[in-house]
Amino acid sequence: MNIVLIGFMGSGKTTIGKALARRKGLKFTDTDTVIEKQLNISIKDIFSCFGEAHFRRLEKQSIDQLMNIKDCVIAVGGGAVMFQNNLDTLKGIGITVFLDAPIQKIFDNLKGKFRPLVGNTIDENKLCELLETRYSTYKKAQVIINTEGLSIEQTVDEIVKRLGL
Ligand code: S3P
Repeated sequence: MNIVLIGFMGSGKTTIGKALARRKGLKFTDTDTVIEKQLNISIKDIFSCFGEAHFRRLEKQSIDQLMNIKDCVIAVGGGAVMFQNNLDTLKGIGITVFLDAPIQKIFDNLKGKFRPLVGNTIDENKLCELLETRYSTYKKAQVIINTEGLSIEQTVDEIVKRLGL
């Protein structure tokens, strides 16, 4: 069985995904990392050299490549499920879990990190606006985990409990 973690950038998909995979003896993959490794270029450079539309094509390909994967925790970039075809594909691959993190946690997690869509200096209002436009789509996940006040391990506990793993 596969578990697909979706949610906003900085919500902890990669960190929690790795911890969950370790706990349950599953594999872990992150579509952004797969793109970077396969093409030997950073996500940042893909955005700046080729633009977002090109990144989205690569992102779709990396999701389509997961079709036959087994026993894996999959983390996808925060914008991936904004495309209904990606969400449909991911629902066919595994159980989708939305990591619903409060904005303050997202903001703290992103501090000092670069994300192409928000740049270096993260404006909390802009971040909120983007999250608002995406929230209803994230909520289409089969399972929603509110991570407010939960540590990484507590979030893993909650996923394990909710999925009956
Ligand atoms: C994006 C999120 C990023 C990455 C790219 C676009 C988005 O992944 O895929 O910068 O559209 O929200 P994370 O969610 O892992 O930060």
